[in-house]
Amino acid sequence: MCGIVAVIGSREAAPLLLEGLRQLEYRGYDSAGLATVHTDEGQSSGLITCRRAKGKLVNLSRLIDEKGSPGYVGIGHTRWATHGKPEIHNAHPHRDSSGEIAVVQNGIIENHRALRHSLVSEGVKFDSQTDTEVIPHLISRELELLKGEGQEINGTMLLQAVQRVSSQLKGAFALAVVWAETPDALVVARRQAPLVIGLGEGEFICASDTPALAGWTRTILPMEDGEFALLTPLGIELYNEEGERQQRSPSLLSGFDQVVDKRQFRHFMLKEIHEQPETAELWVARHLPRGLSADSPVALPFEESFYEGIERVQILACGTSRHAAMVGAYLLEQFADLPTSVFYASEFRYAAPPLAPNTLTIGVTQSGETADTLAALLMEDERRSAHSDPAFASRQLGITNRPESSLSRQVQNIFDIGAGIEIGVAATKTFLGQLLAFYGLALAFAARRSSRKPEEILRLAEELKSVPNYLRDLVKHHDQLAEHLAHRFSDTQDVIFLGRGINFPIALEGALKLKEISYIHAEGYPAGEMKHGPIALLDPRVPVISIAVPGVVFEKVLSNAQEAKARDAQLIGIAPKGPETEVFDALMPIPDVCEWISPLLSVVPMQLLSYHIAALRGLDVDQPRNLAKSVTVE
Ligand code: M6R
Repeated sequence: MCGIVAVIGSREAAPLLLEGLRQLEYRGYDSAGLATVHTDEGQSSGLITCRRAKGKLVNLSRLIDEKGSPGYVGIGHTRWATHGKPEIHNAHPHRDSSGEIAVVQNGIIENHRALRHSLVSEGVKFDSQTDTEVIPHLISRELELLKGEGQEINGTMLLQAVQRVSSQLKGAFALAVVWAETPDALVVARRQAPLVIGLGEGEFICASDTPALAGWTRTILPMEDGEFALLTPLGIELYNEEGERQQRSPSLLSGFDQVVDKRQFRHFMLKEIHEQPETAELWVARHLPRGLSADSPVALPFEESFYEGIERVQILACGTSRHAAMVGAYLLEQFADLPTSVFYASEFRYAAPPLAPNTLTIGVTQSGETADTLAALLMEDERRSAHSDPAFASRQLGITNRPESSLSRQVQNIFDIGAGIEIGVAATKTFLGQLLAFYGLALAFAARRSSRKPEEILRLAEELKSVPNYLRDLVKHHDQLAEHLAHRFSDTQDVIFLGRGINFPIALEGALKLKEISYIHAEGYPAGEMKHGPIALLDPRVPVISIAVPGVVFEKVLSNAQEAKARDAQLIGIAPKGPETEVFDALMPIPDVCEWISPLLSVVPMQLLSYHIAALRGLDVDQPRNLAKSVTVE
């Protein structure tokens, strides 16, 4: 899971590549590199300059300032290490033995060992431990063969070589290739990894994600799975996997994709937490317009046929998206009376349950690029398509923040959560957006299944309309409170998060947020489970953060909190103010709302506390170690 950028045009490529990589750094940031092709006047062949640096992009930027990298054509890469440690020799671009072919790749070449073995037996020497390095060596071999066939040396020859090599590669990848002998050609290819081409004035930029195109062009051509493109200053030639020329009109980027700016905030994560009232406000405006009734309580982008005959739901997701799915499952089952199961996408791929009829499969992924989620959805689609009984037909919905992502090209229906680009690696506002999507689905199914009285359905819709204002107060008041409380965690090594019912997934999410950005060990438990083992961990050094919201399990959660207090644990409550919640040593108050909507609010103090603990420790909140925003490898 890395970011790639490639440019070809009439300006120096290196600054453009660096700017593109800066926008993609969220995808990986342990090393970076670029290669440019420079041609001397009157020469038909060029020279490749390759610069690589370990660590953040700023190191590469310094190197370029110092040593330069001339040329109007180039490729760049920001890496999240999979094969080989984050060292200069493993950073991309990788080159063939002559140094005339340079390649950047995002993904995994699954058969790289066998390919490497065969290349080594032919005498090829490798410089890195990466899976990618086989590619330039293989392209070099193919180019020699094509030359031997008497073909003209041009961009088409490079394209053909890349096509031939791709057919030898197993795995999911996106790649960009330059060749010194064709200095005005750039070849890109994608297979199950994202790649989008931006069309500028007299230049093209190709990148793993649209933020890299921000400030450059709004006209884009997302590449389809299996496609190749040959880019020259004159235009784009697009081909499908079978080598057939494709004609497709470009589309326009939405406004959101253009904005990648921290504003007055110290970190993107803090900014994105503060953007949540707006996320909710937009959602309410879009999905709960005036005039809705109990029969039709929410405006969703689906035809009536989408709901027809659905008897159960299965949700596939990873990480934070899975936590949103768990709240979703609670709502679908408890509010809409629709049996729902949630699976880790990575587990589902290899241990799917027996097929059940009339099932809606929902994939939740903010990036729309998570390899495990996409592969699990694909596998489910394939096994259902092989079934002859129409009751088992594949019916899929994707919930994502990136409607232009691979997910959208893979599933039949998309729910765009519309939260705007999220740069912080720790998901915050997209989590809220995912939760809201499930509230929409729960209302829609409840109305169709008559699982709730009309007044209950309308009440939930009304409660949801108040969420933006509640959130506005919460982010305002809790920012300082969380910053203050964070000091209590200066020596903390372990934290327990407790929640129950609809708020149990929020406890899991609180623990994940803290782990991700502060590197403090944290676990989330259903509060009632504490006494079955985890309670043994408690002592004054282990804070317990407990979500207690009036409703089905309020008293139970308070009793569980008492049990922790009796073991001298420091108890922090996320609960409404009141005599019952005096049990807590510190309270992060949330409004006393109906339990159904409480997860939308209880998550905010969790996010802010995690943020401030990490910020106080001076950690890189937006780019935590070992992580990346979009996990495009298995
Ligand atoms: O893009 P996705 O929602 O599919 O990503 C899934 C997880 O990788 C993601 O939620 C991860 O857990 C985040 N870093 C959470 O903050």
